[in-house]
Amino acid sequence: MSREIFARRLKLSMAQQGKKQVDLIHSAAECGVKLGKSHISQYVSGKTLPRPDILRFLAETLQVDEKWLRGEALLDDASSSSVGTASKAPAVNANQKQNITRRVTEMKTFKKSSKLDNVLYDVRGPVVDEASRMEESGTQILKLNIGNPAPFGFRTPDEVIYDMRQQLTECEGYSNAQGLFSARKAIMQYAQLKRIPNIAIEDIYTGNGVSELINICMSALLDDGDEILIPSPDYPLWTACATLAGGKAVHYICDEQSEWYPDIDDIRRKITDRTKAIVIINPNNPTGALYPKEVLQKIVDVAREHQLIIFSDEIYDRLVMDEEEHVSIASLAPDLFCITFSGLSKSHMIAGFRIGWMILSGNKKIAKDYIEGLKMLSNMRLCSNVPAQSIVQTALGGHQSVRGYIEPGGRIREQRDYIYKALTDIPGISAVKPKAAFYIFPKIDVKKFNITDDEQFALDLLRDKKILLIHGGGFNWEQPDHFRVVYLPRIEVLREATEKISDFFSYYKQQL
Ligand SMILES: Cc1ncc(COP(=O)(O)O)c(C=O)c1O
Repeated sequence: MSREIFARRLKLSMAQQGKKQVDLIHSAAECGVKLGKSHISQYVSGKTLPRPDILRFLAETLQVDEKWLRGEALLDDASSSSVGTASKAPAVNANQKQNITRRVTEMKTFKKSSKLDNVLYDVRGPVVDEASRMEESGTQILKLNIGNPAPFGFRTPDEVIYDMRQQLTECEGYSNAQGLFSARKAIMQYAQLKRIPNIAIEDIYTGNGVSELINICMSALLDDGDEILIPSPDYPLWTACATLAGGKAVHYICDEQSEWYPDIDDIRRKITDRTKAIVIINPNNPTGALYPKEVLQKIVDVAREHQLIIFSDEIYDRLVMDEEEHVSIASLAPDLFCITFSGLSKSHMIAGFRIGWMILSGNKKIAKDYIEGLKMLSNMRLCSNVPAQSIVQTALGGHQSVRGYIEPGGRIREQRDYIYKALTDIPGISAVKPKAAFYIFPKIDVKKFNITDDEQFALDLLRDKKILLIHGGGFNWEQPDHFRVVYLPRIEVLREATEKISDFFSYYKQQL
């Protein structure tokens, strides 16, 4: 095959089809064919020849005969093959065309399911993708985007590691689908201490993190169009799983003016005859709020009045500061059906082990059929990670090392105090002081910085200051005026980060 003739015929066929180099690159990507920018420009300039599979792809895409493109003379192309004066690529004959069409249609591409069309999970979304690209090209990024304690030096209690080692060889098989007896017993006793009513061993399910159980609960409950009340801002997995299950996530407002507590009037306004349940996240991610008993009582009253299931995500229940006490909403609702979620990812700093649980409580009779669905989905994943289940009893009993982090002088507490002051000292930034977990959700004076797109703000901060955080929209917060900071890094690192953020806000004006 002559490079010169091939290049000329390639250009000719591209011109005839009105295709540019970039179009071929896109078609190739769609068909899963590896064809880079540099390859195609080398073919066009006659520097290299393609491999047979690429040649076939080009011929099919440009609808010309492969042999002709390769430079072999065809009867209807005698002139062009030798001297390069061709003005027209030979049309393929009917048979050839049929083969080409068949081969082209055989190149099936695969699109994601339309079920994912409205699913959003920005905690690992486009801003995070941009950060990964920057890291790949050698830029160091300070990540304040994900609540993952281990990379920030929070170590698993030694006893937990020791006990897991001891039991590892006994954890080779699947466990009971809902979990090991010892783990569930320990969870049940923990739930009793929190005054969660009417629970037995069979009401406890372990999961590969709370994440898996949220997914199971939404899939088992929601039919297309069923509504579920979810806070705004939320931990976005709740909205994502409800949407994926076919349900409609209806967001109720948490009010920044009232310590980020749920707005009960807004909840009431948003209930319809399709509303099946209400989700609360307490303590809250991303706001760090802790709901007092009176607020919980009002939510229970609404749920009772409208016969709603209560889902309560309490994964941060052991990370409560200022000597406040966490109250499980299920303890106030013995007559309603409640599911309470927690786990060891945050309190025991073992997010990577993947262990969480859910506790079914209260009036289980009304949810008999739903519980069958939960059992079915739980059986279908066989069981959760067994080595991680084996240390639940150790983790939940005895000394709770997490206390050392949240008491006065403890790391998380000191970092909370530091971040709150450093951020609220920045002109144009305000915040409610978090009481629990390790997140703060500050407000931006959008007029001052001309911000209309909070994702763009997060991207600009990332590119200018190499700091990764998640914009409020990532938590289903509608206004472009918030962002979340994870304050797990040590104070020295938080100081560097907040100085950079402060400098950024000293000059930033959003331009779209
Ligand atoms: C409110 C909330 N729920 C659930 C999860 C998921 O936890 P797990 O690691 O147990 O899947 C997180 C993780 O950040 C969270 O913030």
